[in-house]
Amino acid sequence: MKNGTCWLDDEGRFIQAHGGMIARFDGLWYWYGENKDADNVVEGGVVRGRVPFRGVSCYKSRDLHSWHFEGLALAPVQEAGHPLSPERIVERPKVLRCPATGQYVMWFHADRSDYTLAHAGLAVADRPQGPFRFERLALPNRRDCRDMTLFEDPLTGRAFLVHSGDWNKTLYFSELTDDYRGFTGVCHAQMVSQEREAPVVFVREGVYHCLTSGCTGWTPNTALLATARTLAGGLMKLVCDPMEGPGARRTFGAQATWSFEHDGQRYLLLDHWQRETLRTSGYSILPVRFDGDEMSVCWQDEF
Ligand code: GAL
Repeated sequence: MKNGTCWLDDEGRFIQAHGGMIARFDGLWYWYGENKDADNVVEGGVVRGRVPFRGVSCYKSRDLHSWHFEGLALAPVQEAGHPLSPERIVERPKVLRCPATGQYVMWFHADRSDYTLAHAGLAVADRPQGPFRFERLALPNRRDCRDMTLFEDPLTGRAFLVHSGDWNKTLYFSELTDDYRGFTGVCHAQMVSQEREAPVVFVREGVYHCLTSGCTGWTPNTALLATARTLAGGLMKLVCDPMEGPGARRTFGAQATWSFEHDGQRYLLLDHWQRETLRTSGYSILPVRFDGDEMSVCWQDEF
């Protein structure tokens, strides 16, 4: 697959799974993301940086290269004012299988078209491909939620909704309850006053790695890595921009959305947003390298 371009599914259609994530359940890969298969909204002759909400897609693969569309994991609701109605924003959906209940739990950024609602949305399913049943909107620990991800901590067994809050000023790690459908009240503030978004979190050799982008909407900017040995024991250390080589300063024209491991190799999934034609936004999957503790990500033409 050619990085930075639109990718096709096994029926020759553009993969519509933006701001997404790739997870492995029962030996199969699942890719969830925003279905942006619509023209951008035009208001007063001006092309807006959004499409009507078309649902959250689910694709399935055995090899991470051939993807089959499993349908909409979360479908829009044709009812004015509903959080899943076409005029609303649903972004960065992430899914975990809850070990306590066996359910598939999806959290996403739920918003109004002007991004002033800034809630987290919750939907639950019995199968990985859904259908997910919408449960509710939430303000995690009374904090706003814009860009977000889910993070299952392999060191403690706890799961977190990691979300930009305080109008993006802070990145909160809001601990989920055992059923992954609520919040325990434990909440760690990180990246304080850094204004970061698009969080990607993973653990390597006992160290938490948190990669974020700056806040420039659909325009690519500089990534930042922060690390810590504990989430609770103070602020993460701001390390560097781990992107390397030509185009690194603007994250190769992309913005990260997720990281996953396959055969001992860690990868980063990125979106190449096309602001005026969001449905044609491309993807890349880039290998993450480590030299000792030092993380780097270089551009590669192919995945
Ligand atoms: C980006 C964010 C996207 C989307 C976009 C809207 O910064 O990462 O998920 O919200 O802004 O402008």
